[in-house]
Amino acid sequence: MVTKVIPASRADGWNHNTHYHPLLLAAVPRPCSRALDVGCGLGSLARRLATVAGHVDAIDREPRVIDRARAFSGGLANLRFIAADFMTWETSERYDLVSFVATLHHLPFAEAVTRAARWLRPSGVLAVVGLDRAPSWLAACARSAIAYPVSHYYRLTRPVSPIGAPILDPAMTLAEIRRQAAATLPGAIVRRHLLWRYSLVWTKPPSA
Ligand SMILES: C[S@@+](CC[C@H](N)C(=O)[O-])C[C@H]1O[C@@H](n2cnc3c(N)ncnc32)[C@H](O)[C@@H]1O
Repeated sequence: MVTKVIPASRADGWNHNTHYHPLLLAAVPRPCSRALDVGCGLGSLARRLATVAGHVDAIDREPRVIDRARAFSGGLANLRFIAADFMTWETSERYDLVSFVATLHHLPFAEAVTRAARWLRPSGVLAVVGLDRAPSWLAACARSAIAYPVSHYYRLTRPVSPIGAPILDPAMTLAEIRRQAAATLPGAIVRRHLLWRYSLVWTKPPSA
């Protein structure tokens, strides 16, 4: 558990997760009346979603993290933070977007995306930025040889924010993620990205 205190002004700076927020914002269906961010941490994506969605629910199972997310988000009337475990949380709401940033590897993949798909409206979008495990030591070195200098450049050239929420090493490789995505979310688009991340975008069929 990370307990470092982060000044509010630094809560929305750069890190390996916020780097991919533009990709997620581009996946938001328009119009978007309701969005749900799962494992919201300090709420950086939720605050950005609140500028393009009518209402945003942001859920995290750590009450202390949710308290800090709320403190960073004063004044956003269309953003609600919920302290709950996504895997047992129930809602009657349906969403145009459900997002996970660096959260899906904390959860059982197939059960979590199936649950997220259930909360989506027909034509709603599931958008994930996730972490995958390199399949070998050599692959991990090759990836890091490129990613580290790029990450270092970004750190030197913009204000940085720590994640400020519990982190975990990923257990699934991208090949395993692709296999489970194909089985549970037919048509999902999975892409590898440079900074130790992948993205997954899936649109719920309109007739579902
Ligand atoms: C690595 S942090 C990512 C936080 C944030 N999305 C970001 O991009 O900075 C993963 C978050 O997922 C949350 N989390 C893990 N399992 C969860 C669950 N079952 N339900 C809700 N939140 C969960 C953790 O508490 C943590 O805040």
